Amino acid sequence: MRLDLTDLTCKIGSVKFKNPVFTASGTFSYGNDLPEFVDISMLGAIITKSITYELRVGNPPPRIVETPSGMLNSIGLANIGVNNFIKDIIPLYKNIDTKIIVNIAGSTNDEYIKVLKDIESVSSDIVGYEINISCPNVEHGGMELGVDAKLSNKLITELRKQTEKLLIVKLTPNVTDISKIAEAVEEAGADAISAINTVIGMGIDIVKRKPTIYKTYAGLSGPAIKPIALAMVHKISKTVSIPIIGIGGIVNGENVVEFLLAGASAIQIGTANFRNPNVGEIIVDELNQYLKENEILHYSELIGKLNLYE
Ligand code: DHB
Repeated sequence: MRLDLTDLTCKIGSVKFKNPVFTASGTFSYGNDLPEFVDISMLGAIITKSITYELRVGNPPPRIVETPSGMLNSIGLANIGVNNFIKDIIPLYKNIDTKIIVNIAGSTNDEYIKVLKDIESVSSDIVGYEINISCPNVEHGGMELGVDAKLSNKLITELRKQTEKLLIVKLTPNVTDISKIAEAVEEAGADAISAINTVIGMGIDIVKRKPTIYKTYAGLSGPAIKPIALAMVHKISKTVSIPIIGIGGIVNGENVVEFLLAGASAIQIGTANFRNPNVGEIIVDELNQYLKENEILHYSELIGKLNLYE
């Protein structure tokens, strides 16, 4: 039998996506300002840059640098702030041919709540929120929350009361046991978990004898972190029952299959967008091709289907 039709439709919570290939926060602007050759209708979803309450200019340069098989960045959550987001960006989502998930960051629980409530107060086509409790580059909020199961649980419990839209929590790998944080946010009512955010790293310029990034420490992303991401997705999948959205160094369709086998139900493309903002479309095609060649009707048949040695 040869299958010509494969099915990539993906469901997280009650939301249906056309496929499980999403773009990662901070790598695809707000879904606007993209080159003309990018066809966003090929994507399952776009996850926006992190939105904070106030506008942020972010950290001084250098704030982004290439590394072997990856990239270091410390942007400092530069963004236009929730008011401008509501005024200038949300109207652009009317009739958009993909799903929009808004990433939210904050320094305090109140800030996360205010941002979410303000967005909830306007009618929009947004399908959900991804809560960034894993930014490595700010002093308060971010990773401070994401390394603490109790604090993570408290924040997500409060946010859960404010929305019926999808609530996805993005976890940091910079912890002793990511499963504990995953359990805490599942218990708080999260619909899904995104894993992983960037790994703390550093580069050194020996000519200047300076760090390659202004803030010294930064978030490492790209293929260099894929093995870490796969291990974390696999660990989380053994402890929680909500869907996991895998992120970390995906550059092609075969990498997507790796994450699905590890237990992810969907994936995000991050660093690869900087090389080619249209890579999402190519990856969707490659995933389709893989399913056809292997006579798999629905991509979900691969989720968690890893054969362990024992
Ligand atoms: C930034 C935020 C992140 O969540 C991350 O992983 C890397 C960088 C930032 O805005 O600096």
